Amino acid sequence: MSAAILDGKAIAAKIRADIKTCVEHLVANGGKAPGLAVVLVGENPASQVYVRNKRKACAEVGFYSELHELAATTSQDELEALIDRLNADPKIDGILVQLPLPQQLDETAITERILPTKDVDGFHPYNVGRLVQRIPLLRPCTPKGIMTMLEHTGHSLEGLDAVVIGQSNIVGRPMAMELLASKCTVTICHSRTKDLADKARGADILVAAVGRPAFVPGDWVKEGAIVIDVGINRGADGKLIGDVDFTSCRERASWITPVPGGVGPMTIATLLQNTLQAADLHAAA
Ligand SMILES: NC(=O)c1ccc[n+]([C@@H]2O[C@H](COP(=O)([O-])OP(=O)(O)OC[C@H]3O[C@@H](n4cnc5c(N)ncnc54)[C@H](OP(=O)(O)O)[C@@H]3O)[C@@H](O)[C@H]2O)c1
Repeated sequence: MSAAILDGKAIAAKIRADIKTCVEHLVANGGKAPGLAVVLVGENPASQVYVRNKRKACAEVGFYSELHELAATTSQDELEALIDRLNADPKIDGILVQLPLPQQLDETAITERILPTKDVDGFHPYNVGRLVQRIPLLRPCTPKGIMTMLEHTGHSLEGLDAVVIGQSNIVGRPMAMELLASKCTVTICHSRTKDLADKARGADILVAAVGRPAFVPGDWVKEGAIVIDVGINRGADGKLIGDVDFTSCRERASWITPVPGGVGPMTIATLLQNTLQAADLHAAA
């Protein structure tokens, strides 16, 4: 078997085109363009690239966006004061604080400072709690984008065995909750998991969010499984490598996401969806 490619780039392009049309209608009918504020603290080169891509995507669909670049030495009080201003600003529907933050800053406190209806990353405990209780509001972008990709396989997810490798707050845990809400039977694995290969081999859906290049070999993949590669790792030659060994895993899977061009573009398209959703919430309030 050679897996079909779950083409995140193409699915994301369609989502962005739909959002662009929606914004055009909104503005033509006297509404305001959804607004996203992006906050970047310090000069992490990877964060600078992510922020640039997110702002470019906003411009393409007609969103208003503003970038707040703060020095690496910014204090907790200064950053919280900025969040408070953005919370109160009617032009702004979504606030994205690019992580990781410099060490002196308390990420949890900053995440909690953002108004839950402006938390377009879906990281606020209020939004995480709603996801856990199956009354989601703003859902974390990467797992939500993956659920959109899974819909494109045309498979019903009910009753499937899903294995998520990685238990981070931004990917692994919310991913597991999304799959559980779709009635998968979910196993969450992490660095202390015993017999990881055996667990992976039991998966109808295998999600790798580990942060280690080509961590999942082909012989961990059940024949016909759907393989989702969240990893973004940079090889010595500068090329992006996923957490999955693409060539060997593709031979056994039924569907597989490439890196690049899989989960990454879906994360950005989902951020746009969330910002539009937040704008709807604010317009209705
Ligand atoms: N495509 C996208 O849009 C997107 C979005 C976000 C992240 N990413 C990428 O996805 C990857 C994961 O990101 P993250 O933020 O979730 O990373 P993270 O916070 O570092 O979490 C990594 C997880 O992998 C687990 N792990 C590490 N080594 C392991 C091992 N040998 N066996 C089993 N589990 C192991 C860790 O377990 P412990 O908890 O036990 O330490 C942890 O739960 C990274 O490459 C990141 O760049 C991509």
